[in-house]
Amino acid sequence: MPQPCVAVVGGTGQQGRGLAQRLALAGFPVIVGSRDERRAAAAVAGWPAAAKTADYGGAIAAADVTILAVPFASVDAIVADHHARFRPGSLVVDVIVPIVSSDGVLSLAPIAEGSAAEHLRARLPAHAHLAATFKTIPAHVLDDVARPLECDEFVCGDSAEARTRAAALVQAIAGLRAIDVGPLARARAMEHMTLLAIAVNRRFKIHDARFKVIGV
Ligand SMILES: NC(=O)c1ccc[n+]([C@@H]2O[C@H](COP(=O)([O-])OP(=O)(O)OC[C@H]3O[C@@H](n4cnc5c(N)ncnc54)[C@H](OP(=O)(O)O)[C@@H]3O)[C@@H](O)[C@H]2O)c1
Repeated sequence: MPQPCVAVVGGTGQQGRGLAQRLALAGFPVIVGSRDERRAAAAVAGWPAAAKTADYGGAIAAADVTILAVPFASVDAIVADHHARFRPGSLVVDVIVPIVSSDGVLSLAPIAEGSAAEHLRARLPAHAHLAATFKTIPAHVLDDVARPLECDEFVCGDSAEARTRAAALVQAIAGLRAIDVGPLARARAMEHMTLLAIAVNRRFKIHDARFKVIGV
């Protein structure tokens, strides 16, 4: 069976670049969605595996899987503008960590629905599945595509099917193991774990803290 086509909306950015490259290297057809196709073309030009480019609407409409790798503040408008373009049965993958900074202290933005993922669930078309993953892995580690990842990624979703499909994406990336943690209600804990990883980085003066579950 052919690999699903993956659109990385915001694939020019820090988190999206690494995901798009690693998924392309794993054999997925990848489309980098950007507000500026010239920026996208320049981004993919030097990548070790081929990726196509499109505007956000074109990328979403062509995708079996859409990874939303954009800042939390911009995602509502993107989902509203392209609501009709998400394909029935397609999977949306939320990687957003809604971090805010006040006087150098980082915290998670309060979100009425509970997490960025549940916020998205309330705005995406019902015919699209939603999973959350790739929240706890640092962008610069992902982007260094020759670097072994050697860590786990938590996956939660709105259905068993969403989790299975998202876990398959995670597992396709060399050195990543998917840990299915259940329903979307777990997304906030994943977002908190990213804050924790940043705190570990600061405390120990490192840059690449990430997680591995022992015993699974
Ligand atoms: N950085 C990390 O280590 C990390 C780790 C885990 C999760 N995340 C999450 O991944 C998502 C992307 O993070 P990032 O660090 O990659 O962010 P980023 O580099 O600031 O932005 C990613 C892309 O989003 C697009 N975008 C759309 N609307 C935008 C707007 N109003 N302002 C700025 N960019 C906009 C841009 O692509 P175009 O201009 O090409 O359209 C940009 O390249 C975030 O939700 C973040 O919480 C990041």
